[in-house]
Amino acid sequence: MFDARQLTGPPLPSVRWEGGRDGRLVLLDQTRLPLEERLLACHKVPDVVEAIRQLRVRGAPAIGIAAAYGICLAAARLDPSQDVSQWREELQHARTELAQSRPTAVNLFWALDRMMRVFEETTTAKNVSLSELQDRLLAEAHAIRDEDRQMCHSIGRHGADLLPPGSGVLTHCNAGGLATAEYGTALGVLFTAHDQGKQIHVYVDETRPLLQGARLTTWELAQHSVPHTLICDSMAAQVMREGRVQAVITGADRIAANGDAANKIGTYGLALLARAHQIPFYVAAPSSTFDLTLESGEAIPIEERPAEEVTCGFGRRTAPEGVDVYNPAFDVTPASLITALITEHGVIRPVDRSSIERCLSPTPPL
Ligand code: MRU
Repeated sequence: MFDARQLTGPPLPSVRWEGGRDGRLVLLDQTRLPLEERLLACHKVPDVVEAIRQLRVRGAPAIGIAAAYGICLAAARLDPSQDVSQWREELQHARTELAQSRPTAVNLFWALDRMMRVFEETTTAKNVSLSELQDRLLAEAHAIRDEDRQMCHSIGRHGADLLPPGSGVLTHCNAGGLATAEYGTALGVLFTAHDQGKQIHVYVDETRPLLQGARLTTWELAQHSVPHTLICDSMAAQVMREGRVQAVITGADRIAANGDAANKIGTYGLALLARAHQIPFYVAAPSSTFDLTLESGEAIPIEERPAEEVTCGFGRRTAPEGVDVYNPAFDVTPASLITALITEHGVIRPVDRSSIERCLSPTPPL
């Protein structure tokens, strides 16, 4: 039986590539946590699609990294006797399959677009061999992963400055190392504040229906020895009213040009509660989570997931057979409720179109 007090050693990466251009993608199966640390090898695109759909790999940046490696798996299966247009057709097919795995996190599409751009640049620049193309695509997927690592640590540094010593901080879902290449966004802020000796205490929403908070965030906080307390989602208002929380911080799956932010279902309610209790509400996310093509959160597609996640979570039926269920996996928090956005480039405050544009374009170096 898993015991949070027994955790030792460095955390396992949630997404990793083993081998060279004909290697494989290895995921830490997050559906098994915290009971079991089981690795899952993906050899072909449908394996990656299944893993993303089932939330074996989850969290916006991690999904993007896994999808980028999915393109590498497709590239490894290309036929050297075919020409560039046939390779393009194969990779576009892989891109479409991967893009259909989940709709909300923009990092998925951002990473796939980056990979396809590299395909075009590599194949138009010169008469490229298949192995050169495969190497170039793998290098790009590694770069997406490495940049995400850097962005998370940078978000951690910027965000930690916002937390006064001794703060109680509430978080929702899991925006940690499991959801990214390493360290996390919202959790990156909390890890940094903890390492700075700020003596924070984290309240973790369990995050119905799939319990990413209870299963994953507590697991990560225990590994980093950050003091924390697990609460049911419905307890957040009471915990705030008791004065235990001085800040709320979450991740995001897609942030529109005006600062409206989609994140795990329940985030919007938390932002309303934070406003009612005059508690700052922060959203931590890398630039890869911004979708500046969308004017507002109205246009963000919200994934709906199977009813069984609500009626029969974790193998036990908790509602009558055939009950009508609505199960949106995400909601959108309006920019007006967000105190600040924390990015790798700095803190965006006030949260509005012009501050976002100023911070993100042109992209300054890290
Ligand atoms: O459905 P999930 O578990 O993929 O949802 C994840 C979240 O909502 C995270 O908060 C978000 O992706 C940010 S992860 C750094």
